[in-house]
Amino acid sequence: MKSYKIVLLPGDGVGPEVTAVARDVISTVGEVHGRRFEFEIHSIGGAAIDATGDPLPQKTLNACRASDAVFLGAVGGPKWDGGAKRPEQGLLGLRKELGLFANIRPVRIYPDLIHRSPLKKEFIEGVDFVVFRELTGGLYFGESTRGAGYASDQCVYTAGEIERIARAAFGAARARRGKVTSVDKANVLETSRLWREIVTRVHADFPTVQLEHQLVDSMSMNLIRQPGSYDVILTENMFGDILSDEASVLGGSIGLAPSASLGAGGPGLFEPVHGSAPDIAGKDACNPVGAVLSAALLLRYGLRLHDEADALEAAVERAIRHGARTKDLGGFHTCSAMGAAIIDELHDLSAPRACNVQMHWG
Ligand code: NAD
Ligand code: IPM
Ligand code: MN
Repeated sequence: MKSYKIVLLPGDGVGPEVTAVARDVISTVGEVHGRRFEFEIHSIGGAAIDATGDPLPQKTLNACRASDAVFLGAVGGPKWDGGAKRPEQGLLGLRKELGLFANIRPVRIYPDLIHRSPLKKEFIEGVDFVVFRELTGGLYFGESTRGAGYASDQCVYTAGEIERIARAAFGAARARRGKVTSVDKANVLETSRLWREIVTRVHADFPTVQLEHQLVDSMSMNLIRQPGSYDVILTENMFGDILSDEASVLGGSIGLAPSASLGAGGPGLFEPVHGSAPDIAGKDACNPVGAVLSAALLLRYGLRLHDEADALEAAVERAIRHGARTKDLGGFHTCSAMGAAIIDELHDLSAPRACNVQMHWG
């Protein structure tokens, strides 16, 4: 039987808590669907700085390169603020080294959690969109300088960098509801004017997809005012970071939001949208659903195990329908109890139903 090699990077804060749940649900999927997964744990972020002085040790990077897929919990925390090296450099370095230019952040609403959304029900019902965030360019990777009394961060985009993420977004839209909303700040930024030009050019290859351009400031308003009008939101690195946190609360909590980071080949990186949540870390109090749904994306996009990914997403939906709720959703489940509820549902989903058995024997 083929064995899939998955590297786990627990990282900092709540990272290890949600990674433990992600590993357990993937193992259960393996048991239930007859798949073999091998896990290797490596250090990244603050934990790696403490252990080796480097937020992305060479050993971690080598292991990721040799894997079929990488799962990351979260990095960062106040402990490392002001240090010479930052935990976040580990994550940014990993994204760059693996060439993960496409960060895919789906936003969906669970009907049973609609009342947890800060928006009224009529704005939220039926919301289903995905953010395509460019992940290896822009402000995050430009040259930064710091002098006496000044600092600068350069924002650079090449046409090629814009084109490849645009193609990914249009391709996704074609297979969904056929609409791309490209978000930029073309009224101010030169990089945004190039962005708009290239996106418009790529659009010509996707005649069945509708394209609209939206400035990022009014987009942040519209995302709250009319979230149901979006299908695929395409944007650059920093805007995508900010808009995806905003989008994540539509469903009730950032703890629910997953992401997949993919490149042109090689292993993908799968991580929840949330950070290390230092305020609730170490208490078994965080919501592991974003991590579990990231594990589902790992199965689907990382390992091409579609039935297994569907089963895991169905198990999450059933656990929520049956009342499993962490504190951020107004409930009493600990992080590990939420994971256990999802695992129970995975077993239930695979068990033969009583009526099927009767039909078989009847
Ligand atoms: P955060 O996402 O860690 O937390 C924001 C708020 O959301 C907090 O109140 C937190 O308790 C809550 N929250 C986050 N995840 C949750 C979960 N799973 N369940 C319930 N509540 C949850 O953002 P922040 O506080 O701005 O950043 C903290 C640290 O995390 C920083 O060092 C930042 O750089 C890092 N960070 C890392 C990643 C990553 O590793 N991918 C992403 C974002 C932030
Ligand atoms: C995210 C995070 C990261 C980012 C940080 C931790 C570097 O906020 O994955 O959304 O800004 O990309
Ligand atoms: Mn972010």
